[in-house]
Amino acid sequence: MTVTTGMSSPRGVWWKPAHRSEKIWFAVAFAWCMVLFAMMPLWHLRGGQNPTGIRARVEPADFRDRTNEFIASYQVDEIDGMPVVEPPPGSDVYLMAMMWQWRPILRLQRGAEYTLHLSSVDVNHGFNLYPFNVNFQVVPGYDYGLQITPTEAGDFRIVCNEFCGIGHHLMVGRVIVVDGGDS
Ligand code: CUA
Repeated sequence: MTVTTGMSSPRGVWWKPAHRSEKIWFAVAFAWCMVLFAMMPLWHLRGGQNPTGIRARVEPADFRDRTNEFIASYQVDEIDGMPVVEPPPGSDVYLMAMMWQWRPILRLQRGAEYTLHLSSVDVNHGFNLYPFNVNFQVVPGYDYGLQITPTEAGDFRIVCNEFCGIGHHLMVGRVIVVDGGDS
């Protein structure tokens, strides 16, 4: 039985020079690490994936009041009991998430710019504008303001993609984008 103590050299071959293939492997792995490392800041700056907008604290009750005020100001129609709201271009638009609906239905003009305010009045919801790759967390207590310009006319659905209870799968909202105005 060999007893290894700090006084004797350990057994092994680690002090022999690394094999050529091991050096190549190390160089490739290191280069790839550097590529991934560089992608983090690069993608942040050039990836075009970061939303422009504001984040602010808001009490759920206040957000509900603002949404109701918004609906009262610009309501033009009603579909299945849900108000349809057509705000003027350039205005602040409010979309309230709650179990299990998106309130109200928005009618926007293609090519016009809006500030879309998203918040929840109960639990976390997920804003997914179907069929586009647009996803945001909708969190109670926070007003998430996004600068948006609809680029395509159509009748779109907002799908909740954060599990929010028994009616989660029924939580579908609606955004109607029309060709209109001077766009
Ligand atoms: Cu709201 Cu799932």
